[in-house]
Amino acid sequence: MNDLAPDSRTHTPHKPVRVERRRVDEAESRKANGPDWDRYADEYQASHGEFLGDAGFVWGPEGFTEAEAGILGDVTGRDVLEVGSGAGQCSRWVRTQGGRAYGLDLSRRQLQHSRRIDEASGIVVPSVLGTATDLPFADDSFDVVFSSFGALQFVSDIDVAVADTARVLRPGGRFAFSITHPTRWMFPDDPSEAGLVASQSYWDRTPYVEVDDTTGEVSYVEHHRTLGDWVSLLAGTGFVLTDLLEPEWPEHHDRIWGGWSGVRGRFTPGTAIFGANLR
Ligand SMILES: C[S@@+](CC[C@H](N)C(=O)[O-])C[C@H]1O[C@@H](n2cnc3c(N)ncnc32)[C@H](O)[C@@H]1O
Repeated sequence: MNDLAPDSRTHTPHKPVRVERRRVDEAESRKANGPDWDRYADEYQASHGEFLGDAGFVWGPEGFTEAEAGILGDVTGRDVLEVGSGAGQCSRWVRTQGGRAYGLDLSRRQLQHSRRIDEASGIVVPSVLGTATDLPFADDSFDVVFSSFGALQFVSDIDVAVADTARVLRPGGRFAFSITHPTRWMFPDDPSEAGLVASQSYWDRTPYVEVDDTTGEVSYVEHHRTLGDWVSLLAGTGFVLTDLLEPEWPEHHDRIWGGWSGVRGRFTPGTAIFGANLR
């Protein structure tokens, strides 16, 4: 367990790494995180695939579903884009609700898992390899853009990603996303009581960085924004914030996912879900 690790670090690195807090730009973040998710994808799907459900939509480790949240609104007949779609479970659920959902992800291996589940389930999510900061779609293409723990906390140029989201949304379109709750940044990545003791500043936005010990290259990056940063960013990009959901840990839910657990979840929120409309 690493004191510097934010909660969203859902796996232990596959090779020896040095953990640092330092500035990392968009190019370096993407160069690190794409291959990292490629390496991790098989283990991620093996560990969490059943919980996610092949055509299931959970917003985070609490198991709070879109069927309960309803934060996307009625998706029937809507054009929907999932950013950081992984194996496409959420988009597949949207398709079962009558939405035309499409996926985009930085990791080729995650998209191969998406294709595997497409074939097994018969619910196909057309998906593309790409990044949240450069969406390969025309202006005004979608009614809804969403991301469930997808790209947003892995992106350095978050203003570019949110602006590109606004560009591909039609006027009045819906944007909803979940991220590690920003207050979790203060705590060590530990699902036990030790993870309830604040040890870092909430206001320190310096990225969490893993550096490959053998090559000296950055191998994984996460970026942090405060709740206030998100509100300002959304408002400044033409969105009207309508929802900020902080799902409580369900009473009989005993699943541990990285730093998320009932021990901590009963005291502090682990997931923040934002919902906003484009003006
Ligand atoms: C925690 S997974 C979430 C995936 C899916 N929503 C789920 O619940 O399993 C994060 C996903 O974001 C993708 N990702 C990371 N950085 C990205 C970026 N810059 N653009 C698009 N996707 C990205 C990763 O490849 C990974 O599939």
